[in-house]
Amino acid sequence: MHHKVSVIGAGNVGATLAQRIAEKGYADVVLVDIIDGLPQGKGLDILQAGPITGSDARVIGTNSYEETANSDIVVITSGSPRKPGMHRDDMVLTNMNIVKPVTEQVVKYSPKCIIIMVTNPLDAMTQLALHISKFPRNRVFGQSGILDTSRFRTFLAQELSVSVEDVYACVLGGHGDTMVPIPRLTTVGGVPITELLPQETVNKIVERTVKGGGEIVALLKTGSAFYAPAAATAQMIECIFLDKRRILPCAVYLEGEYGIRGVVVGVPVKLGKNGVEHIIELKLTLEESAALKKSAEAARELVNIMKLK
Ligand code: APR
Repeated sequence: MHHKVSVIGAGNVGATLAQRIAEKGYADVVLVDIIDGLPQGKGLDILQAGPITGSDARVIGTNSYEETANSDIVVITSGSPRKPGMHRDDMVLTNMNIVKPVTEQVVKYSPKCIIIMVTNPLDAMTQLALHISKFPRNRVFGQSGILDTSRFRTFLAQELSVSVEDVYACVLGGHGDTMVPIPRLTTVGGVPITELLPQETVNKIVERTVKGGGEIVALLKTGSAFYAPAAATAQMIECIFLDKRRILPCAVYLEGEYGIRGVVVGVPVKLGKNGVEHIIELKLTLEESAALKKSAEAARELVNIMKLK
């Protein structure tokens, strides 16, 4: 069976993701945007790369949702990107007004799909889509942890002059200033970085990871990061379609795990064909657990702004 992915928002993240999925060739892609011609033009351009990249994936762009019908996975990237100096959290109401009607359309045309949220503020938008869709939590989750751990892994590999592939990183919590990198469980070739690097260096890298998105926003001046966010989302899609059951950090609704209930935060999950197959509960120190709970409360504050009923 050929898979179908719809990507809502044909901007930087959406179009880059569509290109990645099309190149892999394991799914057809429908790009949706409100701007007339934008998804159609980008879709056609990606499609025309097929003969060169050797992909037979069908890619189309549209301004309506009919073509998204019966998607296996829908990725929501539609939103207003972060501007320099703007906090992710400032975007909650702006992007709520975009994500809410988008989710309603997604659910109408693809009632059995898995929704992957990319729009920021990530944890709040994931919770909004979960609320609107009324889907079970295994089918609505967000991309953030793979990006955050990838940033952490990049900086560590640079510092230690090793392959990024041999760096495993653990980051929990919300996607933002309250994210909780866990150096104790971050390893290079199986050895914790706390044994490989001085505390001061670890702290600097953690700090850079936490502010990783902002660093790119400041450099770009218009818009926010999109290559790594798109790569992270593509990895989630691959994991689901191939039923790989990899353990990857995702933003998911917690129902008591880690002592947290009723809010979306980033934790490691087993990702397979049903989406979130299982939530992994790591044994945390008191300090780590307190930081995660603080992060969850920050996410809950944003959710409260939306006054979901
Ligand atoms: N329906 C469909 N598309 C929409 C809607 C809507 N209601 N509202 C806005 N869009 C589209 C815009 O027209 C634009 O093409 O969403 C796209 C967003 O693309 P960019 O502005 O390029 O933003 P991008 O960098 O892709 O980031 C998208 O992902 O990482 C997050 O913080 C980022 O929330 C932002 C999202």
